[in-house]
Amino acid sequence: MDKLIIQGGIRLKGEVKVSGAKNSVLPILAATLLTDETCLIKDVPHLRDTNSMLKILRSLGKIVEFDKGRVIVAAGKKSSYIADYKLVSTMRASFCVLGPLLSRFKQAKVSLPGGCVIGVRPVDLHLKGIKALGADIQIDSGYILAKAAKLKGTHIYLGGAFGSSVLATDNVMMSAVLAQGKTVIESAACEPEVEDLANFLNKMGAKITGQGSPTIEIEGVKSLRGATHSVIPDRIEAATWIIAALITNGDVLIKNVNYRHLGALIDKLGEAGVKISQKGDSLHIKGHKRLKAVNITTLPYPGFPTDMQAQMMALMSVTDGISVITEKIYPDRFMHVAELNRMGAHIQREGPHAIVEGIKRLSGAPVMASDLRASACLVLAGLAASGKTAISRIYHLERGYENIESKLKDLGAKVWREKE
Ligand code: EPZ
Repeated sequence: MDKLIIQGGIRLKGEVKVSGAKNSVLPILAATLLTDETCLIKDVPHLRDTNSMLKILRSLGKIVEFDKGRVIVAAGKKSSYIADYKLVSTMRASFCVLGPLLSRFKQAKVSLPGGCVIGVRPVDLHLKGIKALGADIQIDSGYILAKAAKLKGTHIYLGGAFGSSVLATDNVMMSAVLAQGKTVIESAACEPEVEDLANFLNKMGAKITGQGSPTIEIEGVKSLRGATHSVIPDRIEAATWIIAALITNGDVLIKNVNYRHLGALIDKLGEAGVKISQKGDSLHIKGHKRLKAVNITTLPYPGFPTDMQAQMMALMSVTDGISVITEKIYPDRFMHVAELNRMGAHIQREGPHAIVEGIKRLSGAPVMASDLRASACLVLAGLAASGKTAISRIYHLERGYENIESKLKDLGAKVWREKE
C-alpha cells in the first residue's frame, strides 16, 4: 500500500479542471442495465469506484470499454441478474444495480452492502420503495432476493430518519421507469446527481419529471433505448479545490464548475469572509486575510453537503474563533477529528457535534485515511501544515479524486508517494 507525503506551507497557484461527478456516474452506469442497446457515457472520471462499477457491469454480462473518459456499454451474449458479494462489498454504491436488474429481469439477487466507517448505512428505504412497486423481497445469506411478476406504479413516501436518500431515490426511480402506470416519489433526494441520472434516463426514453425537487413523477414505458450522456462536473471535488486554495492562501482558477451546485458552500464561505468570483464555468479563488469561524450543519441538498464536512473542518481548524460542526446525515462521520488533532488541531467531539477551536498553524505528522472525504481533509491539512505529513491508506483517496497528485503538482504542491 502507498502513502502520500505532503511538504506543507506552499501556496497553491494556477489552474485545475474538475472531473466528472463520481456520484453521478455510478448510478448512470447502473442505469445502462435497463437496455440491451449501446450507451456512451462521457466525462467519466478514472477512479477506483468507477472501475468497481464497470467490473460489476461485466459480471452482469455487459461488454464495457473505458478510454480517455468515455465509457461504452453494450450487451454481451448472456446477462445475469446476480450481483455478487465480492464485488458489491467493495463499494456500497453498487447496490443501485438492484432497481435496474429488477426492472429488466423482474428479479434481482444483490448482496446487501456492508456498513462503513461513516455509518451503518441501512437500505430500508430502498426496500420500502421497491416493495411498494410490487416486488417480493427475501433476505437470504446476506443477499437481497427481489422478484416481481409485474411492477406497478404507485405513490411512495421515501423520507427517512435522516431525510431523503440519494441512492434509494435512484433505485426506486430505476425500478419505476418500466413499471405499469405512474409512480410519484415524495421526499425524493434533490441532489444534482439524482437530477443527472433522471436526465440520462429520459434520454433513454423514460418519462420523468420533477427531478431535482422533492417530488419526482415517473410515467412507466415499455422499454428503454441506448443513449449518449455527459456527466455533470463533480461539485464535491470543486468544493475540495476551493478549500485547498483558501487553506494555502493561494490563487487558483477552478475550471468546469457548476456554480449552481455549490450554493450552500459559497454562502457559508461568504459568512467566513470569502469572496468567490465566477467566470462562466470557472471560479477564481484567492486566499487573503484570515477567515472568520462559521458554524456548519450538514443537511440533504440543497443544504450543506455531508461530503464537504471533513474538508470544511480542516479549514476551520486554522481559522480564528470557534466553529461548531453538526453532522446530521451520518452522526459518526468524524474519523478525521483524531487525525487532525494529531496535527495539533483543537477539536472536541460531542455526539453529532465537533467543536473546532481554530489555531494558527497545523504541524505535519503521520496520519491515516479512513474514508474518502476524511482522506481529502487530511490532504488539505497537510498542504497547510508546517513540515511533512504522511497520509497512509490513500487508496481511500483514489476512490473519488481523479489524478489528484498530478493536479496538486500542477498547482505547485510538493507531494509524492512512498511505499507503506
Ligand atoms: C450518497 O450515498 C453518496 N454516495 C454519499 O457520498 C453521500 O454522503 C450521501 O449520498 C449523502 O449525500 C453516492 O452517491 C454513491 P443516503 P447514499 O442514502 O445514497 C440514511 C462520498 O463520499 N438512509 O442519501 O448511500 C443514511 O444512513 C459518499 O462520495 C437510511 O436511513 O446516502 C444516511 O444517514 C459517501 N435508509 C441518510 O439516509 C436508507 O435506506 C442519507 O443517506 C438509505 C439511507
